[in-house]
Amino acid sequence: GHVVVLAGGLSYEREVSLRSGRRVTDALRALDIPVELRDADATLLDSLADDPPDAVFPVLHGAAGEDGSIRDVLDLLDVRYVGARADACRVAWDKPTAKSVVRQAGLRTPDSVALPKEVFHDLGAASVLDQIIRGLGLPLFVKPTRGGSALGASVVHEPSELSAAMVGCFAYGDAALVERYIEGTEIAVSVIERHGHPQALPAVEIVAPDGRYDYTARYDAGDTEFVTPARLAPDAAERATAAAVTAHRALGLRDLSRTDLIVDPDGEVHFLEMNVAPGMTETSLLPRAVSNAGLDLGEVCRDLLLAQFA
Ligand code: DAL
Ligand code: MG
Repeated sequence: GHVVVLAGGLSYEREVSLRSGRRVTDALRALDIPVELRDADATLLDSLADDPPDAVFPVLHGAAGEDGSIRDVLDLLDVRYVGARADACRVAWDKPTAKSVVRQAGLRTPDSVALPKEVFHDLGAASVLDQIIRGLGLPLFVKPTRGGSALGASVVHEPSELSAAMVGCFAYGDAALVERYIEGTEIAVSVIERHGHPQALPAVEIVAPDGRYDYTARYDAGDTEFVTPARLAPDAAERATAAAVTAHRALGLRDLSRTDLIVDPDGEVHFLEMNVAPGMTETSLLPRAVSNAGLDLGEVCRDLLLAQFA
């Protein structure tokens, strides 16, 4: 038998996913586990059907990887896989939906509006932008409702910047999430399930150059400083890890996830978004949390694979 690490695909995050896939593959091979690193291309379905792997570790970012569709396919083929089921992915991947679910579960999340591209154009961009700023104030954070790696995302400080932010956002998605921008400490809390119990790893604090954790700051080694565990007061750190576990549970996720949060100067924790296929690159957050917890990434991945047979 063998294990397939599924990476690549055709999303905007293809390159990131290939890096994540190589990292997971190397970590598993270091434990002598036979692993095939597989690009999610057009030949995937046939090869999965012809030579079904014992289990798949999806490390596909972006649409297909995180919207549940590839996991629907794995379910159809009756192939075991690590991570959330397809229906849970669909909910978590859509940022406005995820925000409303975690809000129901008692977490704070910044006020926002979601705006499809057509509505934006039909209503007249200028009047919509005015209304948004009147409703939410400034600064704002604009990002595609579905997406990752900060592609199409930007901070808006001045009313005049909002229009360009929307255009940049619509380059990567059909709908924009315009959110109040909360100043504070940006952190990510990864959750790993062990024996069915979600456990939060130490929070990783992100100190991006000029406060902008954009695509380059994410993936060019050395650009961003990470502090693990995050420099938080003990009660804020406690709230942050509890929030990640609450979000993981409320969204019905499985095995692993990463919750992105802001801790404001009062120590209040605000949910930004959930990642069902968190980055596994050399500069990514989950692997950093794993090593800070004294764990080995390969062993964590192996245990998640083994859990599919429990
Ligand atoms: N979307 C990227 C891969 C991340 O969240 O790490
Ligand atoms: Mg994300």
